[in-house]
Amino acid sequence: VTIQPGLPRYDAVDDLPPLVRAAVEASRAAACEKACTPEAGRLLSVLAAGRARIGETGTGCGVGTAWLASGMSTGATLMTVEHDAAYAAAAAGVLGETAHVIAGDWTEIRAFAPFDLLFCDGGPDKAKPAAILELVAPGGFVVLDDLTPEEQWGQELHAAFPDGDPVRRAWSDRAGVTAVELLVTPTESALLVARR
Ligand SMILES: C[S@@+](CC[C@H](N)C(=O)[O-])C[C@H]1O[C@@H](n2cnc3c(N)ncnc32)[C@H](O)[C@@H]1O
Repeated sequence: VTIQPGLPRYDAVDDLPPLVRAAVEASRAAACEKACTPEAGRLLSVLAAGRARIGETGTGCGVGTAWLASGMSTGATLMTVEHDAAYAAAAAGVLGETAHVIAGDWTEIRAFAPFDLLFCDGGPDKAKPAAILELVAPGGFVVLDDLTPEEQWGQELHAAFPDGDPVRRAWSDRAGVTAVELLVTPTESALLVARR
């Protein structure tokens, strides 16, 4: 459960990798506000190091992809899929040879699985891990960002989700994975999941 678009957070940040800066500009030009925050992006960048096959569902205009690219090792591959044709084209324009942008439904990325790191950010239902885990190699990681820590939920969210966040619950109760929730800003957390 989320309550915050990521793009405005870039207004106050100057020290960005050039590719991330370019993707932020493309997102602004396309009025695509749903970018990962700079803090979640840095987490993606850290996790990308040493991973051979990296994937993303829901490219937007490529901000998260650019963070992944900024951390990935030489020789690694980066695939991302976006069903909005205009966003996919904007992302491809920014990312060039760095990543392969598929314009289509998230299921099209299945042909390129399994991934050692998957940023699951649009497409599959995040509260249904099975279809997402099919994209991930044993020992691989899934990252889900943009969660609001339950301690900060207001009455409205508690009323809408009386049993708690369905995404958190689905991953923490799941056999065959180990999940940890990381606070990336005071108001945003990310789930980092290892497929055993
Ligand atoms: C939160 S935004 C992505 C932000 C991006 N990952 C980033 O960090 O900058 C989610 C994206 O998923 C895309 N999306 C939604 N449903 C999809 C689907 N079925 N297949 C592919 N992309 C989808 C939306 O168009 C949107 O651009």
